[in-house]
Amino acid sequence: MGKQMMQTFEHISKIKGELNLPGDKSISHRAVMFSCLAEGTSQIENLSDSEDVKSTISCFKQLGCNIFSGPDKIIVEGKGYKKLEKPAAELDTGNSGTTARLISGILSAQNFASVITGDESLSKRPMLRIVEPLKQMGANIEASRDGTLPIKIFPSGSLHHIKYKLPVPSAQVKSAILLAGLHLNEKTEVIEEIPSRNHTEKLLNLEVEKLNGESIIRVSRANYPVAAKYFVPSDISTAAFFIVLALLTENSELKINNVSLNETRSGIIKILKSMGADISITGIKQSNNEPFGDVIVKSSNLQNVEIPEDVIPNIIDEIPILSLAGLFAEGNFRINNCKELRYKESDRIKALCENYKRLGIEVNEFEDGFELIGRPQLKRTVFESYGDHRIAMTFAVASLLLEEGGAVENFECVKISNPGFIEQLQRIAK
Ligand code: S3P
Repeated sequence: MGKQMMQTFEHISKIKGELNLPGDKSISHRAVMFSCLAEGTSQIENLSDSEDVKSTISCFKQLGCNIFSGPDKIIVEGKGYKKLEKPAAELDTGNSGTTARLISGILSAQNFASVITGDESLSKRPMLRIVEPLKQMGANIEASRDGTLPIKIFPSGSLHHIKYKLPVPSAQVKSAILLAGLHLNEKTEVIEEIPSRNHTEKLLNLEVEKLNGESIIRVSRANYPVAAKYFVPSDISTAAFFIVLALLTENSELKINNVSLNETRSGIIKILKSMGADISITGIKQSNNEPFGDVIVKSSNLQNVEIPEDVIPNIIDEIPILSLAGLFAEGNFRINNCKELRYKESDRIKALCENYKRLGIEVNEFEDGFELIGRPQLKRTVFESYGDHRIAMTFAVASLLLEEGGAVENFECVKISNPGFIEQLQRIAK
């Protein structure tokens, strides 16, 4: 554990300017992984500078890949089909659930044994959701007795394709199965009822069939990646904190360039707009099948709206900051159907409720959500991050909105997704 830091924030009167944010974390993980699997040299521009993506890079270096970081891009020398090398030690995936779960799918198809570990928080998160389907595929894989990390994987002589219906809408589970299936000649099928983020499908050009309201995603060795050039659009989950800050601060206008607008990720913009947010989008482009564009945000008066169940996976990482927008909007903020938040980097329902109570409002916690009733007091408040980057940034924004400012304890965890948060804030806070 690094040094524990309390970060203080003063009230800001205005947000003005333009931001270029680092690349999307989910796309970055996949661009690194697919570059390492492909034979030959790939280039990745605007890669996320997050600790989580650094965890992916360090694991793949241990698997024999050469990865060089330049000022504006990284170069990856990939190994080719089933050519990753046996790591000399355990693979530490740090705080990154995406690294742990996706790499498990890849390693299930290799001809060597490996062990996957993670930090204290990741070691509490559920892994049977990937271990069970991978076992159904014939993988030789075991989680700990509690169904958590460490995961041990041994070579399997009998990996085979399956047809699997996702019991939870989870892009990490879906991707773990697809990445094992990528090594098989027959088609593996994953069926999804409620759409989750589709970066794996887009970057690997997978076949997706819509049938009776479900999606059937098919993968086989024919989709195995080749060396490529990637441009990673800026992270919409990181942008969301600045979008909400600009909306809730008077006389503000903010432009964020090249933000990922993937349809399975941009629900936050749709919901904020339905709440009355003045958000416009210009200059839409596409790279590696992933759309992106410039987002312009102006101060707005917001009203709370109902949040439908089928949009939850689309906004899963933005619910913390969306709830803060809801706190300052007309009416009460209420969300349900998001029990998955309890299995993230912290129990986010609990972490949010505990912090909101510090603002002197009425908070109702449900098993699958929460409700915020009343107006916040604007007195100086100290919040707790629970070691979770998205909780830390949510209450950094809350602090900036309080008349007397505020502080967030254990703020250092922001580096998990966005080490540049404070510097970006300084650029636009007037
Ligand atoms: C991610 C998927 C989501 C998300 C996480 C990143 C990914 O998790 O919360 O931050 O990159 O696939 P689940 O798929 O487990 O819901």
